[in-house]
Amino acid sequence: MAALTGKVAFVTGAGSGIGRGIAERLAREGADVCIPDIDTDGAEETANLVNQLGRRAHVVKANTASELQIQKAAAECVEKLGRLDIAVANAGIARGGPVLELSLKDWQDQLDVNLTGVFLTVQACARQMVRLGNGGRIICISSLAAESTGPGIWAYSATKAGVRIMVRGWGQELGEHGITVNAIGPGVIETPLAEGLAGEPGGAIRSSLESRTPVKRVGRPADIAGLVNFMAGPDGEFMTGSYVIMDGGLRDVSRGYDPDENALAELGRIGERSMARNARLQPLLDER
Ligand SMILES: NC(=O)c1ccc[n+]([C@@H]2O[C@H](COP(=O)([O-])OP(=O)(O)OC[C@H]3O[C@@H](n4cnc5c(N)ncnc54)[C@H](O)[C@@H]3O)[C@@H](O)[C@H]2O)c1
Repeated sequence: MAALTGKVAFVTGAGSGIGRGIAERLAREGADVCIPDIDTDGAEETANLVNQLGRRAHVVKANTASELQIQKAAAECVEKLGRLDIAVANAGIARGGPVLELSLKDWQDQLDVNLTGVFLTVQACARQMVRLGNGGRIICISSLAAESTGPGIWAYSATKAGVRIMVRGWGQELGEHGITVNAIGPGVIETPLAEGLAGEPGGAIRSSLESRTPVKRVGRPADIAGLVNFMAGPDGEFMTGSYVIMDGGLRDVSRGYDPDENALAELGRIGERSMARNARLQPLLDER
């Protein structure tokens, strides 16, 4: 029998990237998966992957920055799938910019999703777990950016450093209910959010990243999903309040990267794709 058979996982932002990889892995290990996301098209695609693995999936349109929406989503998870054993606070956005320019709207949206949204997700899920009395596992997705920062990403770093420290307090508070809380700090993972850092496959940005990364490749959602699976499964029982970096060794490597002409052209293409994606998702984010 797979290790997570009979368990139900609630994975925010599983309509894309790392969250989708986590949903797939947990389903492969036997869990049914609830998928709260602002992007229901992406969430439905993930639900199909979960169903193809023989597990039940339930999509909920929910914005983690809304207390009402996330409380309702956690309740709906229990109503439709019968339990809530594993919660992954994964939904996040990246809004960068220099201190002379970053808008208050971008600053606030990022705080609302990456910090308040994680708090609200953990609170909503932990309340269900305590009520159901089966204990639980909570995993929050922080970032390598909680460790160090640089021009244009300090605001994102601030939110991720907040997550990294909050899990330590939550781990202490929720232990008596049989609930563990841990955080993961991914390095550069190949997803739409990090395309500017990961570059295009075979492109100049990617080959520079690969050569600077000690394990010589970019991260994949499946890498992070493997660590989530450890924290959510029987081997993770004694771990709480921890923050684990998974970055292929990138944290100790100089960030010094001087993009050449090819890389600049690539960055231009990626920038256009990111702007189009943000233009599609921003109205959904503004619905609270
Ligand atoms: N990709 C990386 O290199 C990397 C590195 C470190 C940390 N992270 C973190 O991992 C998490 C996942 O990132 P990703 O790279 O998979 O991004 P992604 O953009 O591919 O996916 C994010 C998903 O979250 C959803 N979402 C965004 N805001 C939401 C909200 N308020 N409510 C509900 N759903 C929302 C989006 O619709 C999308 O489906 C984020 O917290 C991100 O900060 C990513």
